Amino acid sequence: MPLTTGIEILKRAHEENYAVGAFNFNNMETLQAILEAADELEAPVIVEASEGAVKYAGADMLYHMVQALVREISVPVALHLDHGKDFGLIMTALRAGFTSVMIDASAFPFEENVRQTKRIVDIAHAMGVSVEAELGTLKGIEDNVSVDERDATLVNPQKAVTFVKETGIDYLAPAVGTSHGAFKYKGESKIDYERLKEVKKLTNMPLVLHGASGVPEELVKKAEQYGARLEGAKGVSDEVLKEAVVCGINKVNADTDLRIATVGALREVLAENPREIDPRKILGPAREAMKDVVKSRITLLGSAGKASR
Ligand code: G3H
Ligand code: 13P
Ligand code: ZN
Repeated sequence: MPLTTGIEILKRAHEENYAVGAFNFNNMETLQAILEAADELEAPVIVEASEGAVKYAGADMLYHMVQALVREISVPVALHLDHGKDFGLIMTALRAGFTSVMIDASAFPFEENVRQTKRIVDIAHAMGVSVEAELGTLKGIEDNVSVDERDATLVNPQKAVTFVKETGIDYLAPAVGTSHGAFKYKGESKIDYERLKEVKKLTNMPLVLHGASGVPEELVKKAEQYGARLEGAKGVSDEVLKEAVVCGINKVNADTDLRIATVGALREVLAENPREIDPRKILGPAREAMKDVVKSRITLLGSAGKASR
C-alpha cells in the first residue's frame, strides 16, 4: 500500500474515537517490528523519526526503508517527523517524502509558536503533507502541584482554539501531564482529563499524546535482571492511556517502551551467549521484543482491525 498522509489516518480515528499508535524508529529492525505488528493486527500506524533519528540515519534512508516495507503490507502507514524544531531539517524531511511533520515551537511564547507553526503549515500543505504542533510543556503531574502551576505548564484550552484557527494545523499535541522518557512520575501516573476533554470539545480535531510509553514492569524487570539500571522507572498506565483515548486522544506516541524492550533483549542475548558474534542473532530477539510491545499497544488503543473495515 502506498504511504498515506497523517490526516487521512487520524481523521477516521477522530471520527470513530480510537487512537493510532505512533512509534519512533531510527533503524531497520525497529521499523520492521512496527510494520509487521501493524500488518498482522490490520491496524493503521504512524512511524515517526525524531530530528536525532534523521541526523543518525538520514532522511532519505529512513524514507526509502519505509517505502521498501510498505510495498509488502496492506495497512495505511504515514511517515512522520517527530518534534521538528529546525526549519531546515523540516524542509529536509518534506523534500525526502515524509507525509506528516511536527513543528515543535512549544518552547517559544504563544505568538512565536503561531508564527513558526503557520509558516510550516503553509509549506507542508502546499506539498500535501499534514502538520502536527504542540502547546504547553510536557511535564508529569505530581500530587503536590498547585492549580496555578498546572495552568502555567499544561495546555490552555482557549488558547488551543486560537492556535488551531490561526495556524491551520491538522492535529494538535496538547500538554496534559505526560513527559518523555522512562521516569515520568514519582507517584501514580495521571493526566488532566478535564483539560483534555475541554481541548477536544473546543477544537474538535485529532489530538496527540506525547510521552505516552507505558514503561511496563515486566520489560523493566527483564532489562534490570541483565544489568540495566532503571530504578524509579514509571510510565503511563494502561488504564490512564485508555481513558485518554476516551477523552479524545487519537495519536499515541511511544519510543521509550521500544527502547527498554530492545535493551532487555540485547542484554539477555549477550549475557546468555557470550560467544555469539552474529549481529542477526543479537538484534533478531530485540526485533521480536519490540514487535510484542507494538502489538500490545495497538490492541490497547483500539486500532486493531481498523485497516480492514
Ligand atoms: O520525543 C522524544 C523521542 O523519544 C525521540 O527521542 O530525540 O532521542 O530521538 P530522540
Ligand atoms: P515516550 O518517551 O513516552 O516513549 O514518548 C515518546 C514521544 O512522545 C515521541 O514524540
Ligand atoms: Zn514527543
